[in-house]
Amino acid sequence: MNRRNFLKASSFLSASLLTSCKSKKESESFALNNILDEVKKEHSQSFNMCNYAAPEIDTIHIGFIGVGARGSNAVERISHIDGVKITAICDVLDEHAQKAKKRIKTEGHPAVIYSGKEDSWIELCRRDDLDLIYICTPWALHAPIAIFAMEHGKHVATEIPAATTVEDCWKIVQTSEKTKKHCVILENCCYDFFELLTLNLARQGFFGDIVHCEGAYIHEIGESLFFRGKPGRSWRLGENMKRNGNLYPTHGLGPVAQIMNINRGNKMEYLVSMQTEDFHMNNYAKELSKKDDYFKQFIDAPFRGNMNTTTIKTVKGQTIMLQHDVTTPRPYSRLHTISGTKAIAQKYPEPPRLAIGRNDWMPESELKKLEEKYAPALIKKVGELAKQVGGHGGMDFLMDWRLIDCLRNGLPMDMDVYDAASWSVIGPLSEWSVANRSMPIDIPDFTNGKWKTNKPVDISLSKGGNTKVKI
Ligand SMILES: NC(=O)c1ccc[n+]([C@@H]2O[C@H](COP(=O)([O-])OP(=O)(O)OC[C@H]3O[C@@H](n4cnc5c(N)ncnc54)[C@H](O)[C@@H]3O)[C@@H](O)[C@H]2O)c1
Repeated sequence: MNRRNFLKASSFLSASLLTSCKSKKESESFALNNILDEVKKEHSQSFNMCNYAAPEIDTIHIGFIGVGARGSNAVERISHIDGVKITAICDVLDEHAQKAKKRIKTEGHPAVIYSGKEDSWIELCRRDDLDLIYICTPWALHAPIAIFAMEHGKHVATEIPAATTVEDCWKIVQTSEKTKKHCVILENCCYDFFELLTLNLARQGFFGDIVHCEGAYIHEIGESLFFRGKPGRSWRLGENMKRNGNLYPTHGLGPVAQIMNINRGNKMEYLVSMQTEDFHMNNYAKELSKKDDYFKQFIDAPFRGNMNTTTIKTVKGQTIMLQHDVTTPRPYSRLHTISGTKAIAQKYPEPPRLAIGRNDWMPESELKKLEEKYAPALIKKVGELAKQVGGHGGMDFLMDWRLIDCLRNGLPMDMDVYDAASWSVIGPLSEWSVANRSMPIDIPDFTNGKWKTNKPVDISLSKGGNTKVKI
């Protein structure tokens, strides 16, 4: 797409964003009622995908869809893993697909390009020689592509959130159960080093009973949401203009949900959500429009409030506090607080820290000893290699390696479709609560009662672990 075409396309996008925002008030009440209606619907389970072991796949043929910033990084990382063939790459922009292909670091990847059309991904999913579809598109496409891909016999790994509506959360669950295809949520923060350590510590009883956890996505990217220089980028501004809630809950929630055994012995029951007004985005729009008339169209748009705080109650009587703020200037934070009857962990502000009982935070030397004693098997096995390949300090590669190793060895997924649905559904549910003066709303039980008997994620690496890494 040349600059002229892009400007045409982006002004069309902006115009349609604004049209949808102007009629926001009228459409809001329908959309939000719809959220409550969907929550009230009854569902049943046709097959339990939790701990489901699909047949082993020796060489995994992968098709990537959406290879912008995140997807092209994933192509490069995956090409370092043995036992995969990058067979297809799709992006609506041919230039992105070609660039991503060039990032493949190893031999033996016959990546065919699918590009040029909004629905080029359909052709890719229809191929009968692919095992896994890896989705890194804008949010609204995650669920439609995942559903179509599973229906066409592929396992799916999707970027976060897996879906943006309650309805789509149920659809991915039902499609995964019907097709017996995995739908994995690519929540890389579950594989960060301190997060994995705290998961292992929780399993060893270090915290005692978990009382309360906190997680967040506090990452100031406000002004860049307006960025229009790169085609395909302004989708995120659109989301932040039309949806008022925690739009990106899974970075904070994923790791603590695993620690609290959500969907596997525990369940999130209901939430309440509160949000500030916008103190930044409109000011950015005004400032930017002083330099460029293009930005005038965003002045006085109904921007999302800056800080969202959502609290969740579990059936075991614990609480989780989640925050989301991408516009207030402050240091990055995912909070990652685990507070138990015996001990507490807190990662942000960095460096990570642990304390036992009423004592002060442990000195670094003691923390080091604990890190060595409780080092999770995954970190011992591939932690150093992951740091070399990189991706948010290595956690992205740990996630990819584990995904591929599980598929190659026919092992259950660490983050299954129930996790994908229940972590992602916090988005639309928080929107409903914010719009209704923070009233509580039930969190659907996507496991249909199987959470009572589903076994926790196996972090022992006692099976599999034989997938090699090519640096
Ligand atoms: N887990 C993480 O740490 C992390 C970090 C960044 C982004 N993400 C997620 O990754 C996803 C992509 O984010 P990004 O920053 O790479 O955005 P991006 O805009 O850079 O990339 C999106 C890509 O999708 C392509 N695309 C759009 N419509 C398409 C269609 N119909 N068919 C095929 N391709 C299409 C765009 O051309 C673009 O190349 C998002 O879901 C985002 O939340 C996750």
